[in-house]
Amino acid sequence: METRTFYPDLGTDLVRRMTEGKGEKYFVLTLGCQQNEADSERIRGMAEAMGYSAAKEPEEASLIVVNTCAIRRHAELKALSIVGRFKAIKTARPETVIGICGCMAAEPHMVEHIKKNFHFVTFTLEPNRLFRLPELVAAALLESRRSFVLGEDDGRIAEGLPICRTSDHRAYVSIMYGCNNFCSYCIVPYVRGRERSRESAAVIEECRALIASGVKEITLLGQNVNSYRADMSFASLISRIAELEGDFLIRFMTSHPKDVSDELIEAMKKYKGKIAPSFHLPLQAGSDRILKNMNRTYTTAHYLSIVEKLRAAVPDIVLTTDIIVAFPGETEEDFLGTIKIIEKVEYDMIFSFIFSPREGTKAAKMENTITDEEKSDRMARLLAMQKEIALKKNLPYVDRVERVLVDDEAREGAGNFIGRTAGGKLVRFTDKKRRIGEFIYVKITKATPFDLFGEALNGNSNETIKNETRI
Ligand code: 5AD
Ligand code: SF4
Repeated sequence: METRTFYPDLGTDLVRRMTEGKGEKYFVLTLGCQQNEADSERIRGMAEAMGYSAAKEPEEASLIVVNTCAIRRHAELKALSIVGRFKAIKTARPETVIGICGCMAAEPHMVEHIKKNFHFVTFTLEPNRLFRLPELVAAALLESRRSFVLGEDDGRIAEGLPICRTSDHRAYVSIMYGCNNFCSYCIVPYVRGRERSRESAAVIEECRALIASGVKEITLLGQNVNSYRADMSFASLISRIAELEGDFLIRFMTSHPKDVSDELIEAMKKYKGKIAPSFHLPLQAGSDRILKNMNRTYTTAHYLSIVEKLRAAVPDIVLTTDIIVAFPGETEEDFLGTIKIIEKVEYDMIFSFIFSPREGTKAAKMENTITDEEKSDRMARLLAMQKEIALKKNLPYVDRVERVLVDDEAREGAGNFIGRTAGGKLVRFTDKKRRIGEFIYVKITKATPFDLFGEALNGNSNETIKNETRI
């Protein structure tokens, strides 16, 4: 499939002439994953290029975009209810342009539903054609035209879209798009299309520029990030980025176990300090029979061998995972298999979901006889067990000094902040100074299953750090 890059902009200047001097505003609402957050930064970038400025509330905006998720039924219902609320805005101000982007906008039945029942929605735009946004806004403003962009994906990547980033110190960098795996439960390959990777030179240059502008943490993004393959492998790409000058951390999301190469594990060991000691490695299920029906292409034994290698290379690695509970045909024995692996691996955090049938996927057609009671019972058991493990994993941090990137002020008010350790653990701490976007040292004083608490070290504490830190 051709992956030549392009960005045919057919509308920005036209819209800009119409918005000039009018103080028009945009509002973007983002649901779903980091990929959508990264896409929303591009939507905002395009909106600003068209002459709109950011609105605080949707009521002030004349361009409203909802960036939707389709991963589970719940995500779709939430998106539809949010979009529904914007009807009143359109009634009050009919010239408002309301658009739906993201994964729901790539589902034919959903687009049909919106077209027929949501007349106040001006356009839907599938994620791989995001660059057409200005053109759709222009069509709406000039011709009052509704547009539904679907099924146009030709496998190419639009490079060079304007980006309006939400943080000065953390940045997402998309390195690949789409998915070829067709896990039987998953909608992503249908809504995000086949895998395509950006040229390494473009990725490395984007990272270099971000670091030069003061960004301290870069998250490389892709639905299947470690199956990145352009003119080099993912392991080579991440190593090249790690070799850039500067004090920064690299993270990546989301990996598939089948693509965890020995080279990647080696790179994590070699560039420790630059590549974050954390790995999100979705297990999905701890039964080989269920994994086969999920089309995950690995066994539990292979998965555990990766965990072993990761721990040998990076002993303090923070491991997180995704689990699907009550996949069609999951027996109590299968579920106990999942519990067994969770006990064995001792994840720092688990994201668990009850199976949700997605129209068009293989698993949606599989017979599912698990009762709602059984589903919630399994989920409750999993959560209770994980809570214990998470506390066990967090307690050893107490009394340690951790290097933390300060993210924001905390809700508690003055002197309270939140940040993350290199491994990605959330820390709530107090500090005499406001040092957002800086790496600082925090003495951990308390741990709960989900958070660490602490006090920032101030002044010239290099000696203390040398004595106490385990970095
Ligand atoms: N039902 C429930 N969970 C799902 N996920 C993906 N598809 C489904 C589905 N149909 C979960 C997987 C994936 C995470 C992002 O969402 O665990 O890793
Ligand atoms: Fe949701 Fe998946 Fe789309 Fe992300 S890629 S927004 S998780 S459906």
